[in-house]
Amino acid sequence: MTKITYVAFDGTRFEVEAENGSTVMENAIRNSVPGIEAECGGACACATCHVYVDDAWSAIVGSPEAMEEDMLDFAYDVRPTSRLSCQIRVRDELDGLVVNVPERQG
Ligand code: FES
Repeated sequence: MTKITYVAFDGTRFEVEAENGSTVMENAIRNSVPGIEAECGGACACATCHVYVDDAWSAIVGSPEAMEEDMLDFAYDVRPTSRLSCQIRVRDELDGLVVNVPERQG
């Protein structure tokens, strides 16, 4: 199990034990983290699972692939650390990951 912390826009922290192989988006939905909508269900086709990866984790999580980058154009208030959480797979090296939920989706 890999621990992920989601920080909601109001600062509330949600600490979640995530299974490796699942996505950061799936764990947010499963644990009712507010602000992650994931309308397309993880198909990289909606941009409503947008998160900001905490600065300390950005390099470890890595950059988006081309398809995700295109879809990020539709997200609200995109920043250098923006990712679509359905495209981040949980793995051992992400243990302790912190992601911030944006003010709104779309
Ligand atoms: Fe739709 Fe991530 S859930 S792009």
